[in-house]
Parts: sequence; structure tokens; C-alpha cells
Amino acid sequence: MSKDIRLAKERAAKKAVEFIKDGQIVGVGSGTTVELFIKILAERIKREGLDIITIPTSFRTYQLLAEYNFKIASLNEYPDLDIAIDGADEVDSHLNLIKGGGAAHTLEKIVDYSARDFIVIVDYRKISNKLCEKRYIPIEVIPIAIKRVTKELMKMGAVDVRLRGGEPNKYGPLITELGNVILDTKFKPLENPESMEREIKTIPGVVEVGIFSGRHVSKVIVGYPDRVEMLKRK
Ligand code: 5RP
Repeated sequence: MSKDIRLAKERAAKKAVEFIKDGQIVGVGSGTTVELFIKILAERIKREGLDIITIPTSFRTYQLLAEYNFKIASLNEYPDLDIAIDGADEVDSHLNLIKGGGAAHTLEKIVDYSARDFIVIVDYRKISNKLCEKRYIPIEVIPIAIKRVTKELMKMGAVDVRLRGGEPNKYGPLITELGNVILDTKFKPLENPESMEREIKTIPGVVEVGIFSGRHVSKVIVGYPDRVEMLKRK
């Protein structure tokens, strides 16, 4: 990661930390920007002694929260969150998102949508006019349905569908924390992300799609190397 990108992520993360209040139940997303958020929030808690409970969206986030001695609970214990902070891979002008670069979007969507306030933190490279200009859409799929779902996605206009590979030391595809695979799918830039999200979710075998509707997003904090900008829905 370049120095400028790290700085941009750090600025967005630092701004998000300002929105956390004492006594809150906080959903914590996944990714490098969220990792910075966790670190900066830990410093603030040490300084100010806030008492919060965190709900992680992935095993990696859980590990990091544990390392920093956060109180950690499950969504079944606290199904209504005050706030959730998460990253994103692409953001359009209506605050619709593509997520799932870390293959964690199924748990992220459940946790993020359970929050009264869902704040997204990104660096400036993630902003697009329309979703799919820059990124493929990650779709979590039950393994026996890979071929079936691929055919349906092609019928819907997908121009490329790729089974996400595993880590260098893993033989075979990436397997998600829920035991599924990811089909990274390229469409032409999306005119109506919400209807695309709905349509993909009706394909049998699809567990979750990495399109998040802007209706669920309270604000997007965009970090630049020298400033932050706050995006609100148009
Ligand atoms: C993981 C995600 C991440 O939030 C997204 O990939 C952004 O990550 P980063 O902050 O590292 O750019 O959706 O599933």
C-alpha cells in the first residue's frame, strides 16, 4: 500500500472514530481501513475510557478486536446495533456499495444492516459514478451450485464470472468462513444496483451478493491524503 493510500485510509478511519459514543454496541467491518479504525479506536478508549461492545464481521476482525482487548459479543446477544463501521470496494453517487473484497460480505451485510447508523470508510480510489465501473461483484455461492449460478449470471448479462482462487498455500478455490465459494462477476456499469441485487439473490445457490443498497448507508467518509470528505445520499 502506498504512503498516500495509507494516509487516506487513516484519515477516514480517524474521522469514523469520532462517531463512536460511550455505551454503544458497535458493528465492526473487515478490511485494511477497518483495521486502522480498530487501532485508532483502541487508542481513544485507552485515553477516554469509553465502554463499548463490539460485534465483529469476520474472524480476522474478531482476532484484532481480541488483540486490543475490546469487549466482543455476537449478533444473537445484541441484534440491534447503535452503529456499524465498515469499508467498501466501490461507492457510487447514491452511496450504493460493492463489498466482499475480503470475502466477508455475507456477515458484513447482516451486521451492517442491523445498525441504526451504518458508516462506510473508504479511500478516494473507491468512488465511481456507477457500480461495476471498477470492480467485479463478489457473489457468495454454495459450492454445488457454481456452474448453475454461473449460467444464470451469464443470462443476466454478466460479461465475466471468475471463481475466486485460494491463498498461495491453499489447494483449490477460496472457501469463505461459511464454507462457500466466491464468484467474482463483471457486469456493465449498473443502472439500477438495487434491482440487480434483488435479481441475483433469487438465483438458487446464491447465499449473498456484494451489492449493498445506499438506502442502508448513513454516510460515506472518503479519505484523501490531506483531508476527508463526507458523502450524503443525493
Ligand atoms: C471485505 C470488504 C472490505 O470492507 C472491502 O474489501 C474494503 O477493504 P479495504 O478497506 O482493505 O480496502 O468488503 O469483505
